[in-house]
Amino acid sequence: MTAGSLRTALTGDGLVRLVGVHDGLSALLVEKCGLEGIWVSGLAVSAAQGVADAGLLTMTEFLAAATQIRMSCSLPVVADVDSGFGDVNVVQRMVRLYEQHGIDAVCIEDKQFPKRNSFSSGNRLESPEAFAEKIAAAKAAQRDAEFMVIARHESFIVGESLDQALGRAELSVAAGADAILIHSKKSCAGEIEAFCREWRTMDGSVPVFAVPTTFHSAEGADLRKIGVSAAIYANQLIRASVSAARQMLECLVENDSLSEAEDRIAGVDELFELTGMSRIAAGGLWIPPRTEL
Ligand code: SPV
Ligand code: MG
Repeated sequence: MTAGSLRTALTGDGLVRLVGVHDGLSALLVEKCGLEGIWVSGLAVSAAQGVADAGLLTMTEFLAAATQIRMSCSLPVVADVDSGFGDVNVVQRMVRLYEQHGIDAVCIEDKQFPKRNSFSSGNRLESPEAFAEKIAAAKAAQRDAEFMVIARHESFIVGESLDQALGRAELSVAAGADAILIHSKKSCAGEIEAFCREWRTMDGSVPVFAVPTTFHSAEGADLRKIGVSAAIYANQLIRASVSAARQMLECLVENDSLSEAEDRIAGVDELFELTGMSRIAAGGLWIPPRTEL
């Protein structure tokens, strides 16, 4: 899929579901299961390297993860780039690099460096004006008109009001943001619904993204109805991987063999299928000729 597909998907009637991944294999699975897009999750990429989501990895490390993911699937890829890895000039270089590596969109958040995961504590926000300058810098740097810059607002995460959230989003859009991500850590989608209701009256044409981690009981169709264009299922896939891996390891410790786990884990044949090993084994090309795609 080429850059631009994300924009097209966002103009459709349905909710665009982006799933957070940490590597090429998890992206392959998301594509195979028929979801619409990929979120290169800062939390998941950090966790997969065994480190905290607290601005510890460098831009180069995040870009390497995003590139691996880009290479492995053809879905639109949205990269979580934290607060942009530095000042306005770093943000511009970041945009050039991500664009050059085929990423469809970057999502820049309005936290101060060093950021921490939104479900942790100790985050402080940039001033709305300083953040808008970052968004304007990012937009000035992009070369491909289809590339998207998503402005992520953390007002609700740090206890700011709806008006403050709307004010920040308005400034970001004036600076050129192509979409708004409004984050919430409430157990229901109330804050998102209130934001979307007001947003529609202000600038209905700019899509809103939401992250239903704590309000996981909200169904996709309901999120769409309240005005969310894209939902990011940011960390559930890596959390599922951790549970599955822990169960397997516990089985080994308890039983001194993995016999009991065998039926519950993917077969080697599934890995072969996912990664194209089966085609190579059958004498074919790893990437099949276009007619077979
Ligand atoms: C991530 O996936 O790294 C995110 C989303 O930024 S959240 O963890 O919900 O903050
Ligand atoms: Mg993140």
